[in-house]
Amino acid sequence: MVNIYIDNAATTKIDKRVLKKMIPYFENKYGNASSIHFMGQENDLKITECKKEIAQIINGNQNNIVFTSSATEANNLIIKGVMRANRDKGNHFLISAIEHPCVLSSARELLDEGFKFDYIPVDKNGVIILDELKKKIKPETVLISVMTVNNEIGSIQPIAEIGKIAREKNIYFHTDAVQAVPYLKIDIKKWQVDFLSLSAHKFYGPQGAGLAYINKDIKIKPIIVGGGQEDGLRSGTYNMAGIVGLTEAFKLAYKERDSYLKEVREVRDYFWKELKKNIKNIRINGDLKYKTPNSLNVMFEGIEGEAILIDLSLKGIHVSTGSACSAQNLRVSSVIKAIGVSDEYMNSNVRFTFGRYNKKKEIGRVVKELVKTVDRLRKFSSIK
Ligand SMILES: Cc1ncc(COP(=O)(O)O)c(C=O)c1O
Repeated sequence: MVNIYIDNAATTKIDKRVLKKMIPYFENKYGNASSIHFMGQENDLKITECKKEIAQIINGNQNNIVFTSSATEANNLIIKGVMRANRDKGNHFLISAIEHPCVLSSARELLDEGFKFDYIPVDKNGVIILDELKKKIKPETVLISVMTVNNEIGSIQPIAEIGKIAREKNIYFHTDAVQAVPYLKIDIKKWQVDFLSLSAHKFYGPQGAGLAYINKDIKIKPIIVGGGQEDGLRSGTYNMAGIVGLTEAFKLAYKERDSYLKEVREVRDYFWKELKKNIKNIRINGDLKYKTPNSLNVMFEGIEGEAILIDLSLKGIHVSTGSACSAQNLRVSSVIKAIGVSDEYMNSNVRFTFGRYNKKKEIGRVVKELVKTVDRLRKFSSIK
């Protein structure tokens, strides 16, 4: 059975060109970048080169790039680190109602330390409501954290507008841009962001390699301490292969952006057209015009999304219902709740996220299997 993978927001298959660039760092170039000898210093220079290349693409400052093990780590560092280091400025921050669990959990952890936060609500398309954001700002607000693109429904947020509001109010601004590559052109200066997070495995790079962009004019307290790497902001031996892989994948993502966006949109739109033609009582969460072109979150009235997912997976078709991090505990998605989905649809959503390796010719099989799955499951429900 040939697997069809439509869960690219959870992770992507590594690009062979990326892997090829990484291999020498396992085989020969294994020097510790903090070592004084030549093998170490050569790798230290490579890290600087990687930062320079990434900074150019995002219109940022290379000295503000900190490599981490994941975006989860980057988000923890930025949210906890900024709030803890700036207590003198205030104890309040804002996050959107649709953040990834690593932002939510970081925020909740800070409650125990006397910090307070509020959620910025989103509309039915999963886009944050700017007037609500403005209303929630307090004199003691230190940080605003709003993701660039939502991982469950693909909604794009008005990042430059939020950046402007934050700058006017002298509030620091973080965006988790994990799902934005290469769908949006990240621009640190235009967006007026102080902090940004990325993860290599979402754009055909390796798992276990992330990045935190940190405006170093702002105080931040590290969460991992030790050897003092990354100007003391993130101790731990540099993951050379991961850093090289992340950089190569990032460069390729933006170099090949135009053709990639066209192809991925074509496959997704074709899938949605075929789905609507063949299955009744379905609808998407949020309007397509607010979404990145890889993403489609579909509600199948009367059936559980998880039941569809499991049935499809047995047939070699791999999709998800929401964030990969919540796939183990089958609770109601906070994102789906935040966009105001009614109770009868609440658990009926399936997330399809397309990517580079999905082809239009696969869609026929996916739709055919989905029709069978939905027909079978709806036999047990009141919806036919
Ligand atoms: C929006 C968003 N933020 C953060 C993460 C966490 O990234 P990582 O897997 O690098 O920890 C994910 C991954 O699902 C994500 O989609």
